Amino acid sequence: MKFDTPAGTNPIDQLKVIGKPTDRIDGKYKTTGTAPYAYERHDVIANQAYGFIVGSAIAKGRIAAMNLTDAKAAPGVLAIVSTLDTPKLTLSAMNVASLFGGPDVVHYHQAIAIVVAETFEQARAAASLIRVDYARAKGRFDLEAAAATAPLVADEKGEPPVDRVGDFEGAFAAAPVKIDQQYTTPGESHAMMEPFASIAAWQGEKLTVWTSNQMIAWGKRDLAKTLGLKPENVRIDSPYIGGGFGGKLFVRADIVLAALAAKAAGRPVKVAMTRPLMINNATHRPATIQRLRLGATRDGRITAIAHESTSGNQPEGKPEVAIQQTKLLYAGANRMFSMRLAELDLPEGNAMRAPGEAPGLMALEMAMDELAEKLAIDPIELRAINDTQVDPAKPERKYSQRQLVRCLREGADRFGWARRNPVPASVREGRWLIGMGVAAAFRNNMLTKSAARVRLDARGVVTVETDMTDIGTGTYTIIAQTAAEMMGLPLDKVVVKLGDSDFPASAGSGGQWGANNSTAGVYAACVKLREAVAQKLGFNATDAEFSDGQVRAGNRTVALADAARDAPLSAEDLIEYGDIGKRFQQSTFAGHFVEVAVDAYTGETRIRRMLAVCAAGRILNPKAARSQVIGGMVMGAGAALMEELAVDKRFGFFVNHDLASYEVPVHADIPHQEVIFLDEVDPMSSPMKAKGVGELGICAVGAAVANAIYNATGVRVRDYPITLEKHL
Ligand code: MOS
Repeated sequence: MKFDTPAGTNPIDQLKVIGKPTDRIDGKYKTTGTAPYAYERHDVIANQAYGFIVGSAIAKGRIAAMNLTDAKAAPGVLAIVSTLDTPKLTLSAMNVASLFGGPDVVHYHQAIAIVVAETFEQARAAASLIRVDYARAKGRFDLEAAAATAPLVADEKGEPPVDRVGDFEGAFAAAPVKIDQQYTTPGESHAMMEPFASIAAWQGEKLTVWTSNQMIAWGKRDLAKTLGLKPENVRIDSPYIGGGFGGKLFVRADIVLAALAAKAAGRPVKVAMTRPLMINNATHRPATIQRLRLGATRDGRITAIAHESTSGNQPEGKPEVAIQQTKLLYAGANRMFSMRLAELDLPEGNAMRAPGEAPGLMALEMAMDELAEKLAIDPIELRAINDTQVDPAKPERKYSQRQLVRCLREGADRFGWARRNPVPASVREGRWLIGMGVAAAFRNNMLTKSAARVRLDARGVVTVETDMTDIGTGTYTIIAQTAAEMMGLPLDKVVVKLGDSDFPASAGSGGQWGANNSTAGVYAACVKLREAVAQKLGFNATDAEFSDGQVRAGNRTVALADAARDAPLSAEDLIEYGDIGKRFQQSTFAGHFVEVAVDAYTGETRIRRMLAVCAAGRILNPKAARSQVIGGMVMGAGAALMEELAVDKRFGFFVNHDLASYEVPVHADIPHQEVIFLDEVDPMSSPMKAKGVGELGICAVGAAVANAIYNATGVRVRDYPITLEKHL
């Protein structure tokens, strides 16, 4: 089904199942420990051996020699695959540094060997006996030092590296009120609960990998390319995922090394990365240095806006696109955006929840707070004055829906914004300085094709199959809701099967595009199944109503199951998009409100309340969507207050590579959160009229926390995370 004009009324609009707060179908499995994660799939194949990955102890250089003698002789050892006896593996489309093969080391904890043994303990013990001679080379590990000479780099191919509208310099010079500040964000780690883990097994030329991966079709393509296999000989299965946050968008070393090790051992091999290996072996959100210049008239209209961002990455890597939301969020005739990318020898930088927007909004929305203060205009008013209903660079491109100002105003009412004292450091309760902050959140809504297969059987049960993943977001549930709504069934008459590359290729879970696109693919398949049912039962497809497990037209009513009495009925289709996503700017919005208390003596920050008011199209399952948004808010609070990959600039690695030293928020850090969704539908997004929220929640929260801290203390910290020593 091609989607290219605004959606009219369709069966989803009945909202009998869609739009209802619904418990997650997989919730009971996950909370009772019965959802099988990749490493726990003991049942899928017999005779599994254990692999243990060895990471490089240097960040840059060569492996001169590796002595495997003692390791090979250790108890239980079945095989060792070393990077010295493997040719350098082909870089797939999604990997930035080769995952394995050859003597060169390009980052710390890059995989250099895998040991396979009968037990995990034997593999780990043998791995410790491998002796490696390194030839260390000098590396570049300091973003700040590299920033000055970092070359300009375009957002996407074909775009100018310095993106201009109007005359920024002239307008900025002439502006009566201006802000010119630098903001920095550190590297961050996904820190998902489930580690990278895979079981690999060969049957002749055919490879099956049970793993934990967000994007099954990308994974199949990239694994085939990396190992030089035909795609039809690769199967990936990933039905349950214990969090990914972008870290599992791509094939990582666990998948590749499990496959190589299984071949070498002649047995299925399972591999999980240890927590200390994950942070330097895999990817992280790159650190940024951002400069924002805002020029405005005295009545608060932005006349000049410039956002420049510098980040670093491996030579093949991409920049952190921290400027992207600034191109679209506020009006202003004169605009300039650019990025610089420094080559660094740190681990690969790549996507983490709301890549670009998350660090970009931490800077932009603090700059807006600074501008509001300088103008003596309320920060919500400043954002309202500069609202735009079109792409500021291409005014003919309207937003499909943009209710940011409503989010901010409703949030202000709900949060008691009127009680905020705009004079910093003026509210005190005993030893606590109290402050409130606001920030505007923005995250794009991306349209990408997605396929599904649906089957009706004689029990009247509909089974949905798609390679879509559920990374803890609620995908099983919203897909079941979609099929139930379309076929007129209760939720318990729908079975959803996900994550298998043998199923039709979906949009996958990334960029908060999963919910809208994957359910739209299921919608398309269900439209076909309804036609097949109508034909089988002798109804006219356009008249037939599907509800309560029955099909009705005129005064004739037939049980849905009757259509499959002789044989199951199947249908498969995909949603694909014309240029509707280009004709209209499609984005999601939120207003984030935060109240903090800062200890006047120790500088300790306590978040007291958080509120998000979101406008994100139709909310398919308000309960799951709320969970996504509050999860994002927690992550944003972590980014504001504690999360930071600390770089050892001499040896080139992230020092705090475990959950004891890479701090993330816990429940006690977040006492009260509220989420409100505006009642919105977006007919431009898909027949579902929905958008994503999985990344909206994290966007701009950090700035709302920072702005609240400023309001509480009068100290502006522009260097995240805002740890207590920075504002004492
Ligand atoms: Mo997301 S960072 O595209 O999983």
